[in-house]
Amino acid sequence: MAHAAVLGIGAYRPGRQVPNEEICGEIDSSDEWIRTRTGIAERGWALPEETLEVMALGAATDALAAAGIGAASLGMILVATCTNGQPIQPLAIRLAAALGTELPALEINATCAGFCYGLGLARDLLRGGTADRILLVGAERLTDVLDRSDRGTAFIFADGAGAFVLGRSETEGVGPVVWGSDGERGKVLKLIPDYTELRNDPTLSKPSISMEGRRVFKWAAEQMPKVAEEACKAAGVSLADIDVLVPHQANQRITEVIVKGLDLPERVVVADDIVTTGNTSSASIPLALHRMRAEGRVKPGDRALLIGFGGGLAYAAQVVTLP
Ligand SMILES: CC(C)(COP(=O)(O)OP(=O)(O)OC[C@H]1O[C@@H](n2cnc3c(N)ncnc32)[C@H](O)[C@@H]1OP(=O)(O)O)[C@@H](O)C(=O)NCCC(=O)NCCS
Repeated sequence: MAHAAVLGIGAYRPGRQVPNEEICGEIDSSDEWIRTRTGIAERGWALPEETLEVMALGAATDALAAAGIGAASLGMILVATCTNGQPIQPLAIRLAAALGTELPALEINATCAGFCYGLGLARDLLRGGTADRILLVGAERLTDVLDRSDRGTAFIFADGAGAFVLGRSETEGVGPVVWGSDGERGKVLKLIPDYTELRNDPTLSKPSISMEGRRVFKWAAEQMPKVAEEACKAAGVSLADIDVLVPHQANQRITEVIVKGLDLPERVVVADDIVTTGNTSSASIPLALHRMRAEGRVKPGDRALLIGFGGGLAYAAQVVTLP
């Protein structure tokens, strides 16, 4: 059992679907502008009672059911999030308790690359024998840090949670991670003001995401095709061996640029969950995969190339075999 594999995929989608029209009034925009620039038609925004814990627990429970195991047989919990407003206690530890366990539980913040960062860590923890089974959750409530009157971000970000259950395996189901960061350029996507500034000056407005969209777009479009190729190389496969492409659901146009930059076979199924889900940061990759499974667009044994990227700036990619 020298390898790691995905055993189950779970999702939690919030209860409120918000169409573009509902957002346009406040930002002087149009359904057509938002669709053309981002591919988004509507997004899931959490109801007041759909806290980060509720969504993380929903996705975790779904993934455990898909894997056919109970929380008692897990060895560790990893949670990727960049919208946990209460870092003490970490969301990962709250989730461990909500699942009725006292498991080691670690929170990861690599923004929109968080899920793929977590997958990289989970793979090595499983291969190293530290745990036999790991629950990995990506959970976000981006509406908590969204300025609904900001023309640059109000239409992109959304809420939700997705999860994988992973286990030790005789064959390789999760390839090596290819990851990195670019903190110098990272200032193009950040919370303004930060919480320290707010503490020092309580008259400031509450922290919300500020983004230089064009610069984030350019970085992702230029760098992610190279990262994707490296992840295939690290896994010992070629692009011709890939069945499914799941880039972080940041913007449909970024996905299209990545596809154009890669010499993928025609048959490859490309994730497009952003159209109805919006950008859910670290939750977007498991959410997209979960929907593709539910719609029968992908099947067990398919080889999927995952590419997480976003604020920080941070990226991580790997090849996984679908359960
Ligand atoms: C955010 C994004 C959609 C903006 O698109 P863009 O083409 O870069 O838009 P710009 O800010 O350059 O503005 C272009 C024009 O649209 C207008 N505009 C900007 N925001 C608008 C809005 N919400 N509605 C309507 N018009 C808008 C601008 O005023 C400008 O008009 P002008 O040409 O008359 O001056 C795009 O940059 C993007 O998606 N970037 C990637 C962001 C991303 O994926 N982030 C997540 C990473 S995790």
